[in-house]
Amino acid sequence: MALLPILVAPDPRLKQKARRVEAVDGVLRRLIDDMLETMYAAPGIGLAAPQVGVSKRLLVIDLAKEGEPKAPLCMINPELTWLSDEEATYEEGCLSVPEHYADVVRPARIRVRYIDRDNEIREIAADGLLATVVQHEMDHLDGILFLDHLTNLKRNMILRKLVKARKTPAGAEL
Ligand code: NI
Repeated sequence: MALLPILVAPDPRLKQKARRVEAVDGVLRRLIDDMLETMYAAPGIGLAAPQVGVSKRLLVIDLAKEGEPKAPLCMINPELTWLSDEEATYEEGCLSVPEHYADVVRPARIRVRYIDRDNEIREIAADGLLATVVQHEMDHLDGILFLDHLTNLKRNMILRKLVKARKTPAGAEL
């Protein structure tokens, strides 16, 4: 397994619509394993393939808390089949938007259909944090970041800070 570099906004590859996965084969399973390892190392609770520069409709999630057994969830070609009218607000972050967090409003409950790593079609209902994370990661597959749910003012402020942080060497006091 290998750690993959995570793209940071603003990066044009994060704005592209990802392609459907055509085959669940050994190459894809290796990518899934690498994405999980990368997500755990970050650490994060969700990661979508476009965040590691791969234009595929694939995401991984693990909401297990520290000390709990790992509970990886892998969704290939996910599609939302139902959204609640009721909404929920969560403070979201993103491995591609490091060190910035903001409240995002989304449907509180969803149903999502996907293919798992064993090539089985599944459909699950989700609420709470899982509903939010699935929607956040699925947004990545359409080139949408949580920043795109914020006001232009807030989004541009965060993007400017990310660009500035990139130009400043780590640890430098400027
Ligand atoms: Ni994200």
